Amino acid sequence: MGFIDNFWGYISSGGTVSNLEALWIAKNEMISKKRKTTFILVRENHHYSIEKACNILGLEIRPLKLDPNVPPDQIAAVICICGSTETGRCDDLLTWRDFCTKNDIHLHIDAAYGGYYRYYKDSKYLTDSSRKMLENLNLGDSVSIDPHKLGYALYPGAIFLLNNKNDVMYINSKKEVRYLGVTDISLYTIEGIRSGAVAASLYYGHKKLKPFYKELMENNLIGADLLVKKIQSVENFEIYPIRDLGLFLFRDKKLPMSYLKEKFCNLENINKGKMQLITTTIEDKVYFRV
Ligand SMILES: Cc1ncc(COP(=O)(O)O)c(C=O)c1O
Repeated sequence: MGFIDNFWGYISSGGTVSNLEALWIAKNEMISKKRKTTFILVRENHHYSIEKACNILGLEIRPLKLDPNVPPDQIAAVICICGSTETGRCDDLLTWRDFCTKNDIHLHIDAAYGGYYRYYKDSKYLTDSSRKMLENLNLGDSVSIDPHKLGYALYPGAIFLLNNKNDVMYINSKKEVRYLGVTDISLYTIEGIRSGAVAASLYYGHKKLKPFYKELMENNLIGADLLVKKIQSVENFEIYPIRDLGLFLFRDKKLPMSYLKEKFCNLENINKGKMQLITTTIEDKVYFRV
């Protein structure tokens, strides 16, 4: 990951919990600094786990803009996304690192989808924005990465990392363990007891798959480029202009998407040896997401 030393982390049950953990730490840090905790900044196209975390923690979401129209000292965290769920888009991490350092704000990187591409950060098939993001994941104060996405792990589980392990004290400053059997780490994590089976299976899968990650990810990127070229050669289709990390969206300009959805998003297609597509809505338009 490129963290130098003094980092901290654990395996949570998924990206949702890792994002909640990050915002929990950020909020408590603000409270400890006697600052009002009101907002977080994140791009509009974020994963719904951020909405859940903000709802639980009583935070409000504002768009990721350098002029956010809210007092910077009330921003609990900025979230940069390394591979948005729909389009794979990567935020401009260096700009936001600078903003957060100047304003003493926690910078969280949601790399649940794209984090594993770090294995492949030197690839010529990556865009400049994703390469810059992947090279600099260590600039986040915290990072979430999901092995069950591009790590191809069979069991759900996420990695939560804190750049500075001292930040974990914002969660629970009690060093004393009161409950028999509770280990230190359970005091600082949202889940208490977690299954060791998940960690073991992630470790095993990771060990077995690591030699293939480069090839798998390269094939994702090359395959997406080829498919986009093919789709672009058909007049009817429109490709959503932002795409990265092997994801893209397209729609038919003439036929109603409701009709195409019925035809191509049918689970039965798999049994017939055909592709089952999924859709997503972005800027009020329905797209196929590949
Ligand atoms: C960018 C991003 N963040 C967070 C999550 C949530 O991860 P999980 O489903 O592991 O809770 C996802 C899942 O799709 C995601 O794509």
